Amino acid sequence: MKALYFDKFGDSEVLKYGEQPEPVLTADEVLVKTSFIGLNFADIYRRRGEYTIAQRAPYINGYEGAGFIVESKDKWLIGKRVLFVDVPFANASFVAVPKAHLIILPDDISLELAASIGLQGLTADFLAHDLAKDQQGAKVFISGVTGGVGQILSQMLRADGMSVYGSASKEKVATAIKLGVKEVFPSREFSWVEQQSQQFDTVYDGIGSTLNQSIKLLKNRGKVVLFGMAGGQPPQIDFVNLFSQSKNILTGDLWHFLTSYEERNSRAQRLFNYFLEEKITITPPTIFHLSDGKAAHDYLEKGKNVGKILLVP
Ligand SMILES: NC(=O)c1ccc[n+]([C@@H]2O[C@H](COP(=O)([O-])OP(=O)(O)OC[C@H]3O[C@@H](n4cnc5c(N)ncnc54)[C@H](OP(=O)(O)O)[C@@H]3O)[C@@H](O)[C@H]2O)c1
Repeated sequence: MKALYFDKFGDSEVLKYGEQPEPVLTADEVLVKTSFIGLNFADIYRRRGEYTIAQRAPYINGYEGAGFIVESKDKWLIGKRVLFVDVPFANASFVAVPKAHLIILPDDISLELAASIGLQGLTADFLAHDLAKDQQGAKVFISGVTGGVGQILSQMLRADGMSVYGSASKEKVATAIKLGVKEVFPSREFSWVEQQSQQFDTVYDGIGSTLNQSIKLLKNRGKVVLFGMAGGQPPQIDFVNLFSQSKNILTGDLWHFLTSYEERNSRAQRLFNYFLEEKITITPPTIFHLSDGKAAHDYLEKGKNVGKILLVP
């Protein structure tokens, strides 16, 4: 099969494209022929050696994809359209997927949409509904609001009755406004932070390096939901400063919220409903051929993307 792989950690130069052996299935796995593979920031951290990656020689990156089941002991599964968001070695034309990790797609959700919203949508869902759990009317802020998680999260929170603000690069402000974000602040310069301090009930921060600014934006008793480090490692936190203002930091990793077939599928259905009810729309994904993996990594790493990047085998 064709795969994007690498032998050593490093910058995007380490990525190679070529033949790799097809996976050998265990009894509880099915073989999925991938139609679209999701590229995520975590894949960059993994390629750099900064994040856990499943061991294999050579490494095959990627944990998210959508496609058809082509081999299974349970014959009724063959031909089903599925999504997976937490299965290793996804940067390949065939992936062995444990049955518990399958998300079976409803008829109205296309493979392209599923791969475009899977991991980031399920992330938005657990950040909003398991971590922040704000009441209607809450005033919330999303850093990098036009990113994959940001686009879905902002519309989800609006549909849930929140007042949504955010930050974006200059060239992405128009996209943010289209999402219904009330006011958009520049994401890479912070002169506005002082003026907006003590304004928000919740700040969603997937940039990491911006954690101190995010804390400043909070009202007393507010919370930062820290969920990523697209802009670099978060700084050391002064906890005395934090508790003297009754400010809080919550963190979470999607994997700890996807622990069974039932949980994956019920969470996915809750996410799909926002799309089926047209409460959320997303900008079309940017699509690269799997053989152009290096260009796709560079594009994501430089923050050029608006929304999802997909790889097509
Ligand atoms: N906790 C979890 O389970 C979980 C799951 C999925 C993703 N994540 C994390 O969520 C974050 C967002 O993921 P995503 O898939 O939405 O990524 P994305 O589509 O690339 O969006 C990230 C946004 O961050 C902004 N940004 C600000 N400073 C940046 C910098 N120095 N370098 C690159 N981007 C910068 C960019 O917006 P501007 O250009 O407008 O500034 C970009 O749109 C990532 O940190 C990712 O690791 C966490």
